[in-house]
Amino acid sequence: MCGIVGCILKDKDAAPILLECVKKLEYRGYDSVGIATSSRGLSIKKDQGKIDEVDEKLQITDLPGLKGIAHVRWATHGLPTRENAHPHTDCKNRIAVVHNGIIENYKELRSKLEEEGHRFTSNTDTEVIPHLIEKYTDNGVGLEEAIRQAIQQIKGSYALAVISTLEPDKVIGVRKESPLIVGVGEDEYFIASDVPAILQHTNQVLYLDDNEMVILEDTGVTIKNLDNEVLIKEMHTIEWSPDMAEKQGFEHFMLKEIHEQSVAVKNTLMEESEIKETVKKFRHFQRICFVACGTSFHASLVGKYLFETLLGTPTEVVLASEFEYSSNSLDENTLVILITQSGETADTLKALKIANKKSQTLAIVNVVGSTATRDAQHVIYTRAGPEIGVAATKTYITQLTSIYLLATCMTENEELNQQLKKIPEYIKTILEMEDHIREIARRYTNTSNAFFFIGRGFSYPTALEGALKLKEITYIHGEGYAAGELKHGPLALIDDDVPVVAIAPPGKSHDKTVSNIEEVKARGAQIIALGSREDDVLKSEAHDYIEFTDEINEIMSPITYVVPLQLLAYYISIERGIDPDKPKNLAKCVTVE
Ligand code: G6P
Repeated sequence: MCGIVGCILKDKDAAPILLECVKKLEYRGYDSVGIATSSRGLSIKKDQGKIDEVDEKLQITDLPGLKGIAHVRWATHGLPTRENAHPHTDCKNRIAVVHNGIIENYKELRSKLEEEGHRFTSNTDTEVIPHLIEKYTDNGVGLEEAIRQAIQQIKGSYALAVISTLEPDKVIGVRKESPLIVGVGEDEYFIASDVPAILQHTNQVLYLDDNEMVILEDTGVTIKNLDNEVLIKEMHTIEWSPDMAEKQGFEHFMLKEIHEQSVAVKNTLMEESEIKETVKKFRHFQRICFVACGTSFHASLVGKYLFETLLGTPTEVVLASEFEYSSNSLDENTLVILITQSGETADTLKALKIANKKSQTLAIVNVVGSTATRDAQHVIYTRAGPEIGVAATKTYITQLTSIYLLATCMTENEELNQQLKKIPEYIKTILEMEDHIREIARRYTNTSNAFFFIGRGFSYPTALEGALKLKEITYIHGEGYAAGELKHGPLALIDDDVPVVAIAPPGKSHDKTVSNIEEVKARGAQIIALGSREDDVLKSEAHDYIEFTDEINEIMSPITYVVPLQLLAYYISIERGIDPDKPKNLAKCVTVE
C-alpha cells in the first residue's frame, strides 16, 4: 500500500503542497518519499526514509513548477532505497510516474522492454510503466493514448499519476483496483489515493471507477473511459473531519483494517509464483519448526496443524522468547519458519540468529526491508499493507494465507489452492454480519468474569487468537483453551457469568466440540457458537450463533472464523469506552527481549 498525489495549482509552487498532501497519506506506509514537478523540464527529488527526514536532507519541496506528482512508499517489490523510491522515469527522463498497486507481470514486461533497449534503474514493478509509455509515445501517439496502450499490457492493480514534458500542461491519473479520487478546488485540481490528502484544499470530490482516466489541466478536469469517451461524474461533498478521513470514515484503524482483510488476502494470494520459486530453493528437510510471538504465534500454530495434515512432516511451534532454551535439537534437516509481521520483534530476531547457525530459515514478513527479511535465508511477504491498530488483524489473516499458499505450493494440492481463492469472497460475506456481532457484543459487555474460547484441532489456534484479541482491547480476561482440556481444570471456573465462545466448523473435531459445549452449558455457561449455517445441532446448543457457509470446512476455517472474533472484541471495547487502536501497556512492535 502506497500513497499517490498529483496536482495542478493556479499560482503556487506544487512541491510544498504535494509534500503536505502525501504527509496525510503516511498511514498508507512511509519507507520512502518522492516528488516530481514539471516547469521547463522534469525535476525530481526522492529518497528512502521518513517524509520529514527526507525533506530535511534534500529540501524536497525546493522544486519549480505549478504541476506535479508525489508518492509515499510502502515497499512491495524492491527494498526501500533511493533507486526504488518513486517517481520512476523513462530512459529520456521525459515521463514521470507514481504508482500504488502491484504489477503482476512486470518481470515479463521488463525483460521484453530491456530486449528492446530500455534501461532500468530500480528493482520495482512500477518502472515498467514509464518505459511502456515511452515506447508508445515514441511510436507517435499522444500521452493519453500511450498511457491507455501501456495499461492494456499490465496485469495487476494500479492507481497511477503521470506527468510528462511531452504534454507539460497535463497531470494524468488512471486506476484499476487501487483507489484514486479527484479533488476539485477553485482553479486547482488534485488526484490522490485517498481523501485526507486533499481535504485541506477542497472537500469537492469525484470518485474514479476502474479503467477510468482523469486529465487535470489549468482549465479543469476531464474524466474518460478507456475508449476515450468523456464521462460525467457526480460531485460529492466530503463531510468528514481530516481525522475521520484518514480512517476512510471508520471510527478506528482497527475496524478499517478488519474491513481491508478481503483485499489483503487477495493481494497476498498474488504471491503464489514467488512462493513457488522460494520453495524450489529449499534444501531437503525432515522437520519444520515455527517460531513467533503473539498473534504470529497463533498463525504458526495453524501452520503446525496444516503441515502435519498435508505434508506429514513433524512440525513444532516454539515461542520466540523460549527458543534459545529449546533449540538444541536443531540441525541442517530442520526448516525453521519465523513469522513476524513487523520483521523487527527482538525475540524473533534473536531466534533467527540462533536458527541461522544450524538450519535453513524462512521468514514470513509484512514489512519489506525489515531486519528479518535481511537476516533470513528465504523470505515470503504477506501483502497486508501497513497495519496501524496495535491489535493485529489483517496481518494475521495474511500470515495464514501465506502459510496455506506455502503448503499448497509444497504439496501441489490444487483442491486446497482453489478453496483459498474463495477466501476473499467469504470474508466479505462474513463482514455483512457486523451488526449481528455488535448486538452480541452489547449483551456481553458487562461480563465481570472471564470469557472462555474453545476449539479443537484447527479451531484451537482460532480460540487462542479470539481470546488474545479480547484481552488486548477490552481488558476482560479471555482464556483460549483446547475444548477437550476443559475437563482437566477450567470446568471448575464455569458458571452463569462465564460466556463460552465455541468454534465448531464442520469436520473431524465437530462432534467432540459439541459434547464439550454440552458440558459447559450444563454448568450454566452462556454459549456463543460459531459454525455452519446448516448445523442445527450446534445452533440448538447456542444462546448466540454466528453462522458461516458450510463450504468452509475445518481446515479452511482459521482464515475466516477469526473475523467475527475480531469484531466481537472490537465492539466490546467500544461499548466499554476503550480506544481499541491504542490499548494500554501494549506496543505494535516490541524491540526489546
Ligand atoms: C506485539 C504486538 C502483537 C504481535 C507481536 C508479534 O506484541 O502487539 O500484535 O502479534 O508483537 O509481532 P510481529 O511483528 O513479530 O508479528
